Amino acid sequence: MKNEKLIITDMGSDFGHTSSGKHFLCLGIESSCDETSAAIVDSDKNILSHIIYSQIPEHQKYGGVVPELAARAHILAIDDVIKLTLERANKTIDDIDVVAATAGPGLIGGVLVGWMAATGIANATNKPLVAVNHLEGHALVPRLKATSAGDSATNIDVEFPYLLMLASGGHCQILLVHGVGKYELIGQTLDDSAGEAFDKVAKMLGLGYPGGPVVDKRAQLGDKKRFVFPRPLCDKPGCDFSFSGIKTAARMLLDKTSSSDINEEFINDFCASFQMAVVDCITNRLNNALHDKRVKSVKPGTLVVAGGVAKNSAIRNAMEELANKYNMQFAAPPMNLCTDNGAMIAWAGLENYKIGNIVKEPVAPRPRWPLTEL
Ligand code: KG4
Ligand code: ZN
Repeated sequence: MKNEKLIITDMGSDFGHTSSGKHFLCLGIESSCDETSAAIVDSDKNILSHIIYSQIPEHQKYGGVVPELAARAHILAIDDVIKLTLERANKTIDDIDVVAATAGPGLIGGVLVGWMAATGIANATNKPLVAVNHLEGHALVPRLKATSAGDSATNIDVEFPYLLMLASGGHCQILLVHGVGKYELIGQTLDDSAGEAFDKVAKMLGLGYPGGPVVDKRAQLGDKKRFVFPRPLCDKPGCDFSFSGIKTAARMLLDKTSSSDINEEFINDFCASFQMAVVDCITNRLNNALHDKRVKSVKPGTLVVAGGVAKNSAIRNAMEELANKYNMQFAAPPMNLCTDNGAMIAWAGLENYKIGNIVKEPVAPRPRWPLTEL
């Protein structure tokens, strides 16, 4: 099947590192949500090519991702995305050492498309195959490329162990990353993820999908002190999150505001005040995590943020400040590696390949697959 209307983005290449010892090339494939993406990454941290086909315009009119439409769109896109990824790197499949793809967690129809494509390529060419956990893709990509909050040119080396704030559309967790495949859960959301909170508040305000980028933009123009949103759990010990109360408070505030008062200034102030509440929850919970016995005993040198929400500049800045306070390094992926992408899957594929974690018997993709079950 071919889709003549496919609009794909060439994310370009990124050569920042020189060769060190044996050099491997990994083709990584991502299809767990609404991006069909592939990349070729080498073991020296160079991205040779990176293609993303974003389905966002197809889901926008429904206000969120429609799983069945996503799965069909992945089927239409996957062959072209992989072919173009090889072409842009000036490679053929024979040049590839390892094939990796997301095997979960995610929307299972989409995961199956990428996983079956990768399995077919690996079997037909007799190459090693890695089943990548999508969350591990987010968790490890700061080791491929990382920047500080304010300087997109900085290349920070992120060594194990590190303390990770993983905030995406589907997940919100604080993890101690001991190594590849070794994750200790320190805290997690009891209800919505941070990304979901951004998306739901944006939907209430009629700002469209996905909500995070537009709320972030509006927040930069608004007064964060105009409205008071709750900071759930922040007066309690522990590292868990709860965002549903902020969302309910947003709904109630909107319901009691007359529609004639909902102008541009109101929306900007609303976004700024809401975002501030999310930022405060994240810093409060991370602060507790940094006092947690399990964290203190391994003394992580770097505080890291990853996942789609890591694009948020207020969150990046607040976390950098927190890291400075604790004499830690702060690292975040560059903006284009925060949201779902093939490069993070290729990199996680290489990291797993290096420790021998390749597929030895058939793998069933998983809609749910916690990082603590690797
Ligand atoms: O990691 P991701 O691409 O997909 C999942 O694995 O879920 O994350 C997508 C999430 C969406 O909820 C989106 O609204 C959020 O990341 N997001 C942001 C920003 N950019 C994307 N949230 C806050 N601020 C942003 N600038
Ligand atoms: Zn993701």
